[in-house]
Amino acid sequence: MLPASLLQAAADTYGTPLYTYDLAELDAALGRVRAAFGDARVYYAMKANPNLTLLRHLHARGVGFDCVSLGEVSRAEHVGARGEHIVINGPAKSAGEYEAGARLGATFIVDREEEVALLPAGARALVRVNPALAISTHDHLATGSTASKFGVTLEQAPRVLQALRDAGHMALGLHVHIGSAIRDAQDFTAAYARLEALRPHTGPLAVLDAGGGWGLGADLPGIAREARKAADVFGAELWVEPGRYLMALSGTLLTRVIGTKRTGRNFCLVDAGMTELIRPMMYGAEHPVTPLWDRAGAAGETWDVAGPACESGDILARNQPLADPQRGDLIAVGEAGAYGASMSSPYLTRSRPAEALWDGQAWQLIRRRESPQDLWAAEE
Ligand code: LLP
Repeated sequence: MLPASLLQAAADTYGTPLYTYDLAELDAALGRVRAAFGDARVYYAMKANPNLTLLRHLHARGVGFDCVSLGEVSRAEHVGARGEHIVINGPAKSAGEYEAGARLGATFIVDREEEVALLPAGARALVRVNPALAISTHDHLATGSTASKFGVTLEQAPRVLQALRDAGHMALGLHVHIGSAIRDAQDFTAAYARLEALRPHTGPLAVLDAGGGWGLGADLPGIAREARKAADVFGAELWVEPGRYLMALSGTLLTRVIGTKRTGRNFCLVDAGMTELIRPMMYGAEHPVTPLWDRAGAAGETWDVAGPACESGDILARNQPLADPQRGDLIAVGEAGAYGASMSSPYLTRSRPAEALWDGQAWQLIRRRESPQDLWAAEE
């Protein structure tokens, strides 16, 4: 995390709630990915954070984009990505996504057999395989289990590759993405092993896309070794699609204490909540909470950090050892660079937060705070 004085300055300049990013952390994460995965192609899953400034930064470093909506494809195009720098994922792609992908020469990740007939003529395509495993993550984040809607079965995969060829598309290879925030690296090993077993039925392939899903503390070199081994089985080039791993650590959500109340539990009420960071409520995610003040508090006293929304689930973190929080104090919520701002919502006609980037020299506003007028503009 950046020094408290720098975060204080950003909050004073831009107000709170505020998403802050540290460019050096992003570069460090990209460096770790490149060190582990060597010459694999990196497609950043921009759902994690689609801010244009961050996308431009990654694009300038040769990173491609994994897109899952027309909006995301439009962002990729807007920052200059084309052709081999764009993959389009999704279980239910729209006509607009096929059209934009065709125009830009993107690669489509085919998610079901029926999609072969929907692809634009001569499309570049990979077939997403669901290895049907138990995945060590929150149920909502598992995509490689039988209960998940994603991908074709192991049995269907060779047939879908052949159907692509028969239809005149470029059947580049296979894709697998088993989930997000995966705790046990063995899940990747197991998934790749199931793919490798398809080799006799598929023949050699040009590409194996090993997806993303790496938790923040993941053994990247270990996962990379396994992914590379699977790609080698097919004689394929390796692609990866990290989201969280690239972006999470670079981001910190700054929120100010509005006040406190003691009602059997101790509540520290802050100006950010489920509308700014929904992960605690949606996945039970635990984000590190750091008080940016220096004051003695009652020993052993803990606080639930709660947001302003009219919902009981609007709790950012429970049982935090805050020292006598006071109105105006700043709290830093860490690991918030991925799926933080991108999942923030205008529920309750709350303006989505501003975003600021520390480039090592200065703060730069990379998204202004929305105004109420922004929120109702489409209704007038
Ligand atoms: N590739 C595909 C096809 C994906 O669906 C995803 C994420 C990724 C790559 C990137 O996964 P990552 O490396 O970020 O784990 N909103 C949730 C995360 C949902 C991820 C959905 N797909 C959260 O806040 O944890």
